[in-house]
Amino acid sequence: MAIEKSKVNQVEEQEERIIGVGYSTEDAEEVGLRPTSLDEYVGQEKAKKTLRISIEAAKQRGESLDHVLIYGPPGLGKTTLATIIAREMGSNIKTTSGPSIEKPGDLAAILTNVERNDVLFIDEIHRLNRISEEIMYPAMEDYTLDLITGKGPAANSIKLNIERFTLIGATTRAGQISTPLHDRFGILLKLDLYNDDEIKKILKRSAGILDVQISESGLTELAKRSRGTPRVANRLLRRVRDYAQVKGDGVITDEMADAALKLLDIDELGLDDVDRRILKTIISTFNGGPVGIDTLSAIIDEEPITIEDVYEPYLMRLGFINRTPRGRCVTKLAYDHLGIPYGKGGQLRFDTNR
Ligand SMILES: Nc1ncnc2c1ncn2[C@@H]1O[C@H](COP(=O)(O)OP(=O)(O)OP(=O)(O)O)[C@@H](O)[C@H]1O
Ligand SMILES: [Mg+2]
Repeated sequence: MAIEKSKVNQVEEQEERIIGVGYSTEDAEEVGLRPTSLDEYVGQEKAKKTLRISIEAAKQRGESLDHVLIYGPPGLGKTTLATIIAREMGSNIKTTSGPSIEKPGDLAAILTNVERNDVLFIDEIHRLNRISEEIMYPAMEDYTLDLITGKGPAANSIKLNIERFTLIGATTRAGQISTPLHDRFGILLKLDLYNDDEIKKILKRSAGILDVQISESGLTELAKRSRGTPRVANRLLRRVRDYAQVKGDGVITDEMADAALKLLDIDELGLDDVDRRILKTIISTFNGGPVGIDTLSAIIDEEPITIEDVYEPYLMRLGFINRTPRGRCVTKLAYDHLGIPYGKGGQLRFDTNR
């Protein structure tokens, strides 16, 4: 199955970016940091509780687990959780993604090859095309495939039985999944941004695996700047590790973390230049808002989907941005953070590129 060209470009483009984490861009070291059991998977208590019960019950009955939909912003652990579920079920996992299933034949081939109780993981499931979605409905519900062969008057419909399997779908945009598909998932897991304590736990674990020494204050400092996102936390850890190795004695302290992150233009709350550009553009050009996502996207030259998925969840969690029906508004908290007098945005002049 072909990897889409746009995705390849996206990955290349974002390689150097720490926060603008692309979707599912991973390297070998990141894979090594993946927890492999529910016990190792930090936080997301509600999701874990639901899963523990469902997995236990399915195992007791000797059945496949109900279909699972995992949704939440990039880097929060959707793919990780899918692999953990398969492992806890003792099942094999087959992985594909919405955009890579182009023709109905692709999906039919995958589904006829699943073995009993396998997990089929479809990443970015909101990008599955309509025809493939329609093939999914009976497959999920009755474990059958309705295939049409031939064309016109010679067309024939055949029904094939497939093995019982568990579909795990992951998406950053639950709102874009059609209702019929959404309704066929028995287990819905919403992942939220992590709190600082949880991020600290993740950092501690990763530091252990990477054999990096980090002080308690270093952990706190890194956690504060990780945007509640494990992938960002792990990336920051690795960058600061390099810095501490070259500029210090290898131990990550709060000062070391601070100095390294300053160099990367990441501020004390974890905001990078794109975050600041978003806020400053809304303040200076739109007097604090409201402004529509497309207008904002055109001005700061980032895709609307990137702004919505990667940047806004954290800006909203900080209370820096409100989404209103008429568009985005910047709050007083954001003005304070940027040191701009509240309500004066329109009259102020500054360089929005910084
Ligand atoms: N709960 C967790 N505990 C510990 N580490 C985690 C947890 N969740 C994620 N991670 C770490 O963060 C990294 C990113 O997670 P993952 O790839 O599963 O995110 P994702 O939600 O699938 O992202 P995307 O939307 O970009 O596909 C993983 O390599 C893993 O090391
Ligand atoms: Mg993923």
